[in-house]
Amino acid sequence: MVGAPAIERVGVVGCGLMGSGIAEVCARAGLDVLVREVDEATAEAGRGRLVKSLDRGLSSGKLTEEERDAAVSRLAFTTDLGDMADRQLVVEAIVENEKMKTDVFGQLDRFVADEQAILASNTSSIPIMKLGIATARPEQVIGIHFFNPVPVLRLVELVTSLMTSPDTISQADSFATDVLHKRVIRSQDRAGFVVNALLIPYLLSAIRMMESGFATADDIDTGMVEGCNHPMGPLHLTDLIGLDTTLAVAQSLYEEFKEPLYAPPPLLSRMVEAGLLGRKTGRGFYEYGSR
Ligand SMILES: NC(=O)c1ccc[n+]([C@@H]2O[C@H](COP(=O)([O-])OP(=O)(O)OC[C@H]3O[C@@H](n4cnc5c(N)ncnc54)[C@H](O)[C@@H]3O)[C@@H](O)[C@H]2O)c1
Repeated sequence: MVGAPAIERVGVVGCGLMGSGIAEVCARAGLDVLVREVDEATAEAGRGRLVKSLDRGLSSGKLTEEERDAAVSRLAFTTDLGDMADRQLVVEAIVENEKMKTDVFGQLDRFVADEQAILASNTSSIPIMKLGIATARPEQVIGIHFFNPVPVLRLVELVTSLMTSPDTISQADSFATDVLHKRVIRSQDRAGFVVNALLIPYLLSAIRMMESGFATADDIDTGMVEGCNHPMGPLHLTDLIGLDTTLAVAQSLYEEFKEPLYAPPPLLSRMVEAGLLGRKTGRGFYEYGSR
């Protein structure tokens, strides 16, 4: 794909926590961005989250009014995946569910007309190979794994499957580095990649510690903030990531490596069943006023 045209038209599938952040950084980088959500109400909620984040950029002086307005004007929303037909790069950021993601990749493969287009996933733990083989273009399927909040955290993990082509890797690397100004690290296609394979056992240990009555949530978090200079304690961080996402990533890690340190503690499973998903639902290990 030497000499492939610069990526100007990007699609983002899913506009939750991560999809809205990915769409925001792409629009701020001057790209034409089309976002797909499941229905009008969810698309509107995602759009609201995104505009609120741009407004925060304006009030903190990181964006001018013109830059904010220009970013908003580059964003469009749809509920029809078929509208992704003219995209050169699509980043999937739907819920961490293998069946749902492989379905989306199969459909994108049929809808996206440009044979050179790259189909990327923001998955935290699902093997890129499984998404690649759901398409007829596994060499153009890659993991572009952003971190939350996307407009703030610079890291991107590029995850390549055994089938991802060198051209796809170099295009995705240059997109993340030169266009979005992210800091890229590379990972083999192993559940959790680099960061979550290290982070998730730490979060699960904190949950087990609290569950066993070893220490309170506050003391666990204060210990890591004040004792290790972490910006946020592990239970606050789990609330920020989302307990459902944390559970799904732990399950993928456990399935891949069968190591007890990746096994989700019962408390995490019960909280997810109860809908206590963290910040996004207003309650997790802590309670939150406005989301
Ligand atoms: N939360 C994090 O900190 C974090 C960090 C890095 C990566 N990720 C990954 O990003 C992905 C999304 O996570 P999130 O935290 O944004 O989840 P989320 O629950 O906030 O958002 C998921 C969104 O996907 C939408 N959706 C579901 N099916 C869809 C479909 N077929 N088409 C379009 N939209 C669809 C849902 O309506 C929802 O709005 C997951 O794969 C997760 O593992 C999450």
